[in-house]
Amino acid sequence: MSIEVIQTTTETQEATLEEARARGVDLHRLPRHIAVIMDGNGRWAKARGMPRIEGHRNGIKSVRETVRTCRELEIPYLTLYAFSVENWSRPRLEVEALMRLLHTFLLSEIREMRDNGIRLHSIGRTNDLPAGVRSALDQAQAETAECKTMQLNLALSYGGRTEIVSAARRIAEEVRNGRISTEEIDEALFSSYLTTAGIPDPDLLIRTSGEFRVSNFLLWEIAYTEIWITPVFWPDFRKEQLFSAILDFQRRERRFGRVIEADVGL
Ligand code: FPP
Repeated sequence: MSIEVIQTTTETQEATLEEARARGVDLHRLPRHIAVIMDGNGRWAKARGMPRIEGHRNGIKSVRETVRTCRELEIPYLTLYAFSVENWSRPRLEVEALMRLLHTFLLSEIREMRDNGIRLHSIGRTNDLPAGVRSALDQAQAETAECKTMQLNLALSYGGRTEIVSAARRIAEEVRNGRISTEEIDEALFSSYLTTAGIPDPDLLIRTSGEFRVSNFLLWEIAYTEIWITPVFWPDFRKEQLFSAILDFQRRERRFGRVIEADVGL
């Protein structure tokens, strides 16, 4: 079942590229890193009179389609906000159901990820996860470690502030032990202590379900990221919305705080 959805073939990749071109997407100016806040699973389920977990279950279909499409577009990095540090406070049954879904997803997708050149990487406090999920995660990361086409980062038990505080703690420890001096602390050094070390900052952040918030996601890393918000709930998110986000991104002028040359003369 999962094989049909996540697996990429030359034919499906060609079809995706053709569809993207037809929508006006410039395949030479794709974002290098897309991050996604997958929101609205609960509301999607509620609107259908279903339990919230059905929203999460259907959200996995969107995860697969998004991973597959990014892989076919050869976008090197995709980061999905799958579980936040705050999500541990949800009702126990919902947390357990989410962990079960994650566990099943990891075990069922390892082969497809490996066959499709997708390296799995996790960010966040993964030691908080139940032992079974952690070992499935370790296995998936080990078995896909050599994959080079795309890196799928799953943010699990992740919180942006937690990430910044733990980096600050580790740097303070290094200073105390004399391994680095305070003068050496700059943005590059700080970044190297985050769980996202080595991953380029996201170019595009997508948020579903129409909320205008960043919800403690990649706070340091999204300093200059373009944000695209859709009212569509995550379980309804498909290729079509992904192309719209990319198209909108390509229409924007990224200045990174600078002035563009044509506007310099005042
Ligand atoms: C937000 O919707 C979504 C989550 C907290 C979990 C996201 C999880 C999945 C899509 C499934 C598992 C993921 C993977 C990668 C296997 P919400 O529950 O906050 O929705 P609401 O705001 O409408 O209540």
